[in-house]
Amino acid sequence: MVAQTDFSEQAITLQLTDEHRMLRDAVRSFAQNEIVPIAAELDESGEFPMDTIKKLGAMGLMGIEVPEEYSGAGMDSLAYALAMIEIAKADASHSTIVSVNNSLYNYAIMKFGTEEQKRTFVTPIASGEKIGAYSLTEPMSGSDAGTMQSRAVLNAAGTHYVINGRKSWVTSGPVADYVLLFTMTEPEKKHKGVTAFLIDTTLPGFIRGKKEPKLGIRASATSEIVYENYECPVENILGGVGEGFKIAMTALDAGRIGIASQAHGIAEAAYEASVQYARERIAFGGPIGQNQMIQQKIADMKTRIEASRLLIYNAVQAKERTKLNGGRYTLEASMAKLFASETAAFVTDEAVQIHGGMGYSKELPIERYYRDARITRIYEGTSEIQRMVIARQELGLR
Ligand code: CAA
Repeated sequence: MVAQTDFSEQAITLQLTDEHRMLRDAVRSFAQNEIVPIAAELDESGEFPMDTIKKLGAMGLMGIEVPEEYSGAGMDSLAYALAMIEIAKADASHSTIVSVNNSLYNYAIMKFGTEEQKRTFVTPIASGEKIGAYSLTEPMSGSDAGTMQSRAVLNAAGTHYVINGRKSWVTSGPVADYVLLFTMTEPEKKHKGVTAFLIDTTLPGFIRGKKEPKLGIRASATSEIVYENYECPVENILGGVGEGFKIAMTALDAGRIGIASQAHGIAEAAYEASVQYARERIAFGGPIGQNQMIQQKIADMKTRIEASRLLIYNAVQAKERTKLNGGRYTLEASMAKLFASETAAFVTDEAVQIHGGMGYSKELPIERYYRDARITRIYEGTSEIQRMVIARQELGLR
C-alpha cells in the first residue's frame, strides 16, 4: 500500500494571543504615526533612521525573542513576524534593520553564545542602545557562501585571531557597533573551516568601506567592511572553531522568516492603497474597481497575500516546534521567503499598474513599495537559492 501523507498533521493551529494582538496594535500605531510620515524623506536622503530605531529598541522590538533578562521582549517568533509585518508596511528600510538585529544577529548569539557573550553582545542590541550586523557575503562569495576568501589566523600566543579580508553587502555596516562575522580559519576544510567571530567595531583594523547606493530600502545603510590585521580575542569566537557555516545557515533560517514578513508587509501596504484607489478613481463613468480587469488584479493580489501569510505562520509554527523538539525549519522558512517575496513583487507591480501614472510618481509611496520589494527576492538567499534549498530538502539530497 502506498503511504499517504496526512495533511491534517500539517494544519496551521497558530492562535494569536491577547499579548500578540496588543503587540501588533502597538507596533502598528507607532509605525503609522512615527514612521510613515518620515519614510519618503528617508528614502530620498538615504539617512539612517537612528532616532526611530532607538524608539523601537525602547519598545523591545530590537530583541523581540530575546529574554527580558537580556533586555529583550521575551516573546515568540509569531510576535516577531507580526511586528515585522507592521514595520515593513510603514517602511521597508526600518524593517530591514529590525530583521537583521533580531533574527540574524541576536538569534545566532542567543542560540550559540556563552552567558558572557549574551550579556556583552546581545543586551545592548536588544535594548536598542547599539546596532548589530551580520556579515557573511564577500565580493566573490554571495550565494555560494562556503567559498569566502577572508581569513582568520591564530596568533603565536594563541590569544587572538588576526583577521584580513573584505566583506560586502553588510546591512547596517556604516553604523554597526558589533558585527557577527563569518570567516575562514581552516580554508582546506571548506564549510567546516568557517568560524564565527563577534567583532567590536571600535578596535583597530576594522574599516568601514563605501556605502552602497541602492535601488530600494535606501535608509537601511549597507556597506563593505575591510579587515586589516584586526585582532579578535579567542573568547569572541561564537560556537567554536569550524562551527561558523552551520551557525550562519541556522541564523538565515530565522532571517528568512523575517524577510518573508517584510515582503508581506510591503505587499499589504501596496494592496491596501490599491483597493482604496480602485474605489475612488473614476474612469469611464465609474470607479475603476468596477472593471473586471482591475477586479482580477485585486483578487489575485489578495489571494497571494493570504497564501503568503499562511506560509509565514506555517514557518513560525515550525520554528516554535523546533524550540520544543529540536530539528530544523529550513524548508518552511525557505518556502515562506520564496513565496512572500515573489508575492511582494507581483503585488507591488500590480499596484503601480492600478495607480497608473500616479503609481509611477514620487507623490505616492507606491513606486517606493515597488523598489523596496525587489531586494526581498535577493538578500538572505535569492529566490533561486530558496528553490534549491526546498528541492534538496524534498529530494533528500542534503
Ligand atoms: N541549518 C543548519 N545546517 C545547515 C543548513 C541549515 N539551514 N543548511 C546547510 N547546513 C549544513 C549542512 O547540513 C552541511 O553540513 P555537513 O557538512 O555537516 O553535512 C553544511 O551546512 C554544508 O551544507 P551544503 O552542502 O548544503 O552547502 P552548500 O555549499 O551546498 O550551500 C546553500 C548551501 C543553501 C546554497 C547556502 O550556501 C546558502 O544558503 N546560500 C545563500 C547564502 C545567503 O543567503 N546569503 C545571504 C547573506 S545575508 C544578507 O543577505 C545580507 C544582510 O545583511 C541581510
